[in-house]
Amino acid sequence: MVAYAACIANPVLFMEENVASRLTSRKVPAVLPVAGILEDASKGLIEAPRSMPPKYFYDERGSQLFDAICETREYYPTRTEEALLQACARDVIEQLRPDHIVEFGSGTARKTRHLLDACDLAGETAAYWPFDVCEEMLQDSGQQLVQEYDWLQVNALVGDYLGGLAGLPPRDGRCLYLFLGGTIGNFTEDEAAAFLAEVRAIMRPGDGLLLGADRVKDTEVLQAAYNDDAGITAQFNLNLLQVLNRELDANFRDRNFEHRALFNQEASQIEMYLVSRCRQSVRIDALRRTLELEAGERILTEISRKFTPARLEALLKSAGFAIHSHFEPENGWFSLVLARPEAAPVTPS
Ligand code: SAH
Ligand code: TRP
Repeated sequence: MVAYAACIANPVLFMEENVASRLTSRKVPAVLPVAGILEDASKGLIEAPRSMPPKYFYDERGSQLFDAICETREYYPTRTEEALLQACARDVIEQLRPDHIVEFGSGTARKTRHLLDACDLAGETAAYWPFDVCEEMLQDSGQQLVQEYDWLQVNALVGDYLGGLAGLPPRDGRCLYLFLGGTIGNFTEDEAAAFLAEVRAIMRPGDGLLLGADRVKDTEVLQAAYNDDAGITAQFNLNLLQVLNRELDANFRDRNFEHRALFNQEASQIEMYLVSRCRQSVRIDALRRTLELEAGERILTEISRKFTPARLEALLKSAGFAIHSHFEPENGWFSLVLARPEAAPVTPS
């Protein structure tokens, strides 16, 4: 009653206090060795075949560009996965009744809202733990969420999920883990298996994992999704050069590189490159090295693996999961799988 009176007297103040207290943020310490940008650049850039890990795309501008990619006509995964989530959210929430929703690589968390809406409908009040490398995005999305959902506690986790999950803060009760957007496809097969095993290791009976993965389909459809006409994916890819310039005191020039994304059918993956348009030297002061690039030489900046249902299920099973449900649209373009921890095998004593 007191709180209610205060709300009437000073609604803005009440809102701000109430909202701020429902948003926390903390760093997740790495428990596995993970390379920083210096090490990744010195391992990946100096000699061919050249590559950089995808996590460096996501500075503030990169995260905004990724969000814009999700709106393009060609990039079907976001809307396809969103429709699947919308359709299954209620079932998933009613079955799991989670106390916590932990999301890896949460970004803007726009699709997650379907699960929060389902909590609303079911009268559940789960806490949301978005885990991302992009601190600005966590702040923005966290603030929006606590304003949109007046019951929601958001505990933002800033860190690199490749540094392991054992450093996550303890949580009592049932957890629903989310790994959406086909981000599992940005790992190599070994990385994906290791990451899912990490997730499995922190899960308890009754927990669930909702995993979104993109599927094999027509090469044209796949390639268009990573080559939108408006050139937003190209800007996103080229933004990596700005990150390298800033973080490593380098002098990459945008106009000397072009974006290229191809579907490698044999490896069943989209490969995204920055291709050198000319013979050029690039100075990387932080490494005290100069990169010599020929015209047409390329830097691999991302893979995005495309799954068959069988391969996806085999990957989950090998990491110790049982498939509970597998949601897909009629055209089979995307998979959303609800997996549960498999009971530990009985070991003879
Ligand atoms: N889940 C969202 C965003 C996918 S994009 C969606 O489905 O649309 C991938 C997200 O993962 C980005 O928000 C990026 O910042 C984050 N990310 C990438 N690599 C990461 C890493 N190593 N550790 C933590 N977050 C990472
Ligand atoms: N997880 C997304 C995917 O593999 C990431 C992504 C979409 C992406 N478009 C991109 C990464 C363009 C780099 C460039 O589909």
